[in-house]
Amino acid sequence: MVLFKVSRVETTPFDGQKPGTSGLRKKVKVFIQPNYLQNFVQSTFNALTAEKVRGATLVVSGDGRYYSKPAIQIIIKMAAANGVRRVWVGQNGLLSTPAVSAVIRERVGIDGSKATGAFILTASHNPGGPHEDFGIKYNMENGGPAPEGITDKIYENTKSIKEYLIADLPDVDISAIGVTNFGGPEGQFDVEVFDSASNFVKLMKSIFDFESIRKLLSCPKFTFCYDALHGVAGAYAKRIFVEELGAQESSLLNCVPKEDFGGGHPDPNLTYAKELVARMGLSKSSSQVEPPEFGAAADGDADRNMILGKRFFVTPSDSVAIIAANAVEAIPYFSAGLKGVARSMPTSAALDVVAKHLNLKFFEVPTGWKFFGNLMDAGLCSICGEESFGTGSDHIREKDGIWAVLAWLSILADKNKENLNGGKLVTVEDIVRNHWATYGRHYYTRYDYENVDASAAKELMAHLVKLQPSLGEVNEIVKGIRTDVSKVVHADEFEYKDPVDGSISRHQGIRYLFEDGSRLVFRLSGTGSEGATIRLYIEQYEKDSSKTGRDSQEGLAPLVEVALKLSKMQEFTGRSAPTVIT
Ligand code: G6P
Ligand code: ZN
Repeated sequence: MVLFKVSRVETTPFDGQKPGTSGLRKKVKVFIQPNYLQNFVQSTFNALTAEKVRGATLVVSGDGRYYSKPAIQIIIKMAAANGVRRVWVGQNGLLSTPAVSAVIRERVGIDGSKATGAFILTASHNPGGPHEDFGIKYNMENGGPAPEGITDKIYENTKSIKEYLIADLPDVDISAIGVTNFGGPEGQFDVEVFDSASNFVKLMKSIFDFESIRKLLSCPKFTFCYDALHGVAGAYAKRIFVEELGAQESSLLNCVPKEDFGGGHPDPNLTYAKELVARMGLSKSSSQVEPPEFGAAADGDADRNMILGKRFFVTPSDSVAIIAANAVEAIPYFSAGLKGVARSMPTSAALDVVAKHLNLKFFEVPTGWKFFGNLMDAGLCSICGEESFGTGSDHIREKDGIWAVLAWLSILADKNKENLNGGKLVTVEDIVRNHWATYGRHYYTRYDYENVDASAAKELMAHLVKLQPSLGEVNEIVKGIRTDVSKVVHADEFEYKDPVDGSISRHQGIRYLFEDGSRLVFRLSGTGSEGATIRLYIEQYEKDSSKTGRDSQEGLAPLVEVALKLSKMQEFTGRSAPTVIT
């Protein structure tokens, strides 16, 4: 056994180590400054308190982006020095964010140990590579992101940190499965490298009926395609879709995880998942080849998902509503019924309508998955989702990109169980259109203005808040822009009181609510790493089933115009068009 010594290294604080919606995300060049990562890790240990860290079992892994490998070695050495008992690392440092959550909740070590928390190394859907982003976040014993109480403490600690602890361990080979033992001043310390996929695969098999999905995938009428955008989802896609469910290997696109995501932007949306979008017949560069019946993509750390049908896009707000409406019938895990459902505020109200029809508990929470975790821990919520391509359930405490795909495949398998051998296939598009016919349709779009000057973005938001107290004035302006939109009846900044712990979150997005149920929401992104990103969410409800089939950009055009002019978007930002439309 290798023995190690612990040293205390003097350090000084860095500005701006405040964790955002999902941890600390910065350019790699920021993270590689001497002591930068170390300060954040030690501040986290100090926030968790020395008593909790001593003897702990920590998971350390991530989406495999550039700088993950050196970061894992640094965290292992600091964990040893801080008295952590063991560190678990996914092979090659790879674990998707949902798999980390599953590992914390489900995995039992060879000596019967259970994990107490995790450092997840990811900047999610942000690009990777030496000139791009790196990120780190801490997840708690329930498998979910640290609550604000902890992240605030971490931030406070980063502002006053004077020293950190580090052990003089040799680097651990994280490419080989196995356990390495070390001995330190506080006793034994182990690093266990384990298979990245097996816990997650086992969990998925306990939730879904793999046999019925296998039948669907083996039916020649049903064609399938999955794009991991070179993120960590690739480490799971082959195991689950090909080995377990029998999909053809050629149905996997970009499923080899890469440190720079192949130079792409690993965000599963219509703009960045270009190759998949083309293959599904949804872009101008689409070939004449018949597109697959089903397509899906994941982001870098595999917690997000995009669901597509043949020449058809499923908006994430509809996706969660459709999963909730069909879960009990199609997914064994939910067969006893749903405890409740939840969505984030900017997500469309499609889920609300399902909850009402099915008489389910319903919650509207601020953006950020951690808010769902509290509801789930209290047994109040089974399925939840966000417009930002996140969907999931209480099987873990993170959103889950592969889970969402399996949920859709389960629904398709269920709707087609009678006609796999003969008869017409019920398609993704059929399922969505039938849903609209039953529940009405929430036309929805999101405009993103990325990397806008931060002070200009703040001024735009301040302008919108300032308008809110006088609805009379707001409606004058609206009428001056378009006469064919309804009246603003309420305007506020969204505020949330957590029903479980009573905590209050303020300033969670600026809302303009219209008489006919339409909504405009403005928010600043909490996940960017440079400048500011303004998000504008636009929604309109149509109950009349003869009017639910329009093109969404066309249907929303009047509201879009109102939103852009009311917010003076171009004036404040200098942008005449958004960076991304979803
Ligand atoms: C992360 C969180 C999501 C959240 C999203 C919002 O992905 O895990 O829960 O919806 O960020 O991102 P934004 O950039 O809009 O703050
Ligand atoms: Zn992600």
